[in-house]
Amino acid sequence: MEFNKALTRRHSIRSYSDKPISIDDLKDIVTKAQKSPSWVDSQPWKIYIATGEIVKKLAQQQADLEDKGTASHPEIPVRHRDDWAKMPRANMAENSVRKADWATEHNDDYDRYQKYLYNAPAVAYLTIAKDSTDWSKFDLGMFASTLMLAASDKGIDSIPSYSLVKYPELSRVALDIPTDETIFIGIALGYQSDSILNQYRSNRSDLSSILTIKD
Ligand SMILES: Cc1cc2nc3c(=O)[nH]c(=O)nc-3n(C[C@H](O)[C@H](O)[C@H](O)COP(=O)(O)O)c2cc1C
Repeated sequence: MEFNKALTRRHSIRSYSDKPISIDDLKDIVTKAQKSPSWVDSQPWKIYIATGEIVKKLAQQQADLEDKGTASHPEIPVRHRDDWAKMPRANMAENSVRKADWATEHNDDYDRYQKYLYNAPAVAYLTIAKDSTDWSKFDLGMFASTLMLAASDKGIDSIPSYSLVKYPELSRVALDIPTDETIFIGIALGYQSDSILNQYRSNRSDLSSILTIKD
């Protein structure tokens, strides 16, 4: 089965080469993401993709805001880590320590890439209607995951990232995103650069800590 290859090669890529993604490839991965299941086939998702000169302009605008120290204001509120539930809080703490140690050891330069939208040649913005139910949020997550696996299957790298939607007014204006839609998450798409940043690997919990099977 080819699926395992697409699944295992996907990991978050935080620095991209200048190689563009063709419009046909973008349409293909979105068509595949549309295969995701949704509540009563409600298909609540919409997707807006910035590429070419538009994404370059967005990257510069984001960097300008970051340089000015503008506070982020995503449309989905970000809770302080101390207010997350116990298990994800512990996992975040573990990842943060590992990532910080790794960054020190490898001189990683995360902020420089992040503020320019990771230099990605395409950024997809996923939205749902502002009056969506929680089930539509669940459906949007599945759409996002299928999108990234479909991309991986074509050798296209990705990262879902809050930092892409820190200043949602930028993409809303650039892509004419209607005001009755919430800009939920951004997904950078492209081909990884040879930056050391891309060599970091996240961890996963022991299966026994998340799985219960009773036979
Ligand atoms: C909703 C969401 C928001 C994220 N935001 C960021 C972010 O702002 N910066 C970042 O470096 N990674 C971000 N990530 C990527 C996660 O850190 C990454 O998926 C996780 O550490 C697991 O690593 P992997 O994707 O390489 O398997 C985000 C992921 C998700 C699902």
